[in-house]
Amino acid sequence: MSSNDDWSTPSSDAVLVSLVSPSTRGVKTISHSFHPKFTYPIFGDSEEIFGYKDLEINLRYNASDMRPNLTISYAKKYPAVGETEATDINEILREFLPEVAFQKKGDFETAIKSVREDWTPPGELDTTFKSNHKTFEVWKANLADPAVKQLVKRIQIFVPFFIEGGSAIDVDDPDADRWTVFFLYQKMTAVGDTGRNPYIFAGYCTVYRFFHFRLPTPPPSPSETDLEKATLGQDFDLSQLPCRSRISQFLVIPLFQGKGLGSRFYSHVFQEYLKHPQTVEITVEDPNEAFDDLRDIADYQYLRQLPEFQALRINTDVTIPKSGTAPSNIVDKAACEAVRVKAKIAPRQFARVLEMHLLSTLP
Ligand code: ACO
Repeated sequence: MSSNDDWSTPSSDAVLVSLVSPSTRGVKTISHSFHPKFTYPIFGDSEEIFGYKDLEINLRYNASDMRPNLTISYAKKYPAVGETEATDINEILREFLPEVAFQKKGDFETAIKSVREDWTPPGELDTTFKSNHKTFEVWKANLADPAVKQLVKRIQIFVPFFIEGGSAIDVDDPDADRWTVFFLYQKMTAVGDTGRNPYIFAGYCTVYRFFHFRLPTPPPSPSETDLEKATLGQDFDLSQLPCRSRISQFLVIPLFQGKGLGSRFYSHVFQEYLKHPQTVEITVEDPNEAFDDLRDIADYQYLRQLPEFQALRINTDVTIPKSGTAPSNIVDKAACEAVRVKAKIAPRQFARVLEMHLLSTLP
């Protein structure tokens, strides 16, 4: 019998994700397939799958409605001897993929051929823009919509695949309506190389609404507070309450990365909440370095258009002590806070971008 190592495959190499489209000659793969960046949340810290030779785990998605289909192939499987058995890949993936992913390949292919050519993403068309001569659309939707739940369930495996430490949304949460989901799609203008799909999925972003309660002063009796009314579910319009809108998951799939789409997508979502009267602050849940970079540049570009931000300067009359710690009056704090509140940017993020600006104004 061979050693265990001979029967192990790195899980990120074994998994191959592709977008496909029905075409006149069957089903074709669109562009390059890609591997996940991380698989440890699924297959464990060692990121190894035991028990197969030449293992391939193909996760194919119909590019528009993102119906998934899983196929597992291998040259040899480890014979079950005693307690050592090959990893049950289907069972592990069932926790991360909806049932439809386990359909037979033939049923999947039949199903995607019946997707209507006038199919559109769920929700409402929010904006359209061009990038590198291609047309992109952002669709805005609420997670309470069953079509949105279905799409999110299909694509959520991308969270462990690409966002380190990210967590999937419980789509069946009774508070599902607090989630807004933005879908980024390439809109196909003609049937061409990419087959018959009218749309190609490019990414998505979820935003959670936290209510931002401020009790009036002096506080009224508890039964009269907004919080109680909301909790008791009385006739009270929650959508009118001030809130903090938190970007929770933000993802552009590898096929579309590095083309400026993430930056355009983020700026669009940011502008949406800037216009949203109830949102008092736009925050981000555990941003990673790549997202921080994208956000710093986008926020800086936006703030630089505001004359009151441009006017912020380091007070050069202030003496900096030998300790090097800047005194609190080095900038006009009230003016900074006024811009920050207007821009709805959280304090820590505003401080990062303000520093970029102040450094750029130094002679
Ligand atoms: N053509 C080519 N390159 C461009 C263009 C363009 N037109 N415009 C910008 N770029 C460059 C940018 O300058 C940037 O370069 P840099 O990396 O050297 O700074 C780079 O391309 C990336 O910018 P975008 O293309 O706008 O970003 P992208 O579309 O690749 O999206 C993102 C970035 C969201 C991080 C994406 O890579 C991704 O989804 N990664 C995996 C998931 C992830 O990490 N998500 C964020 C987690 S945090 C959270 O979810 C809250």
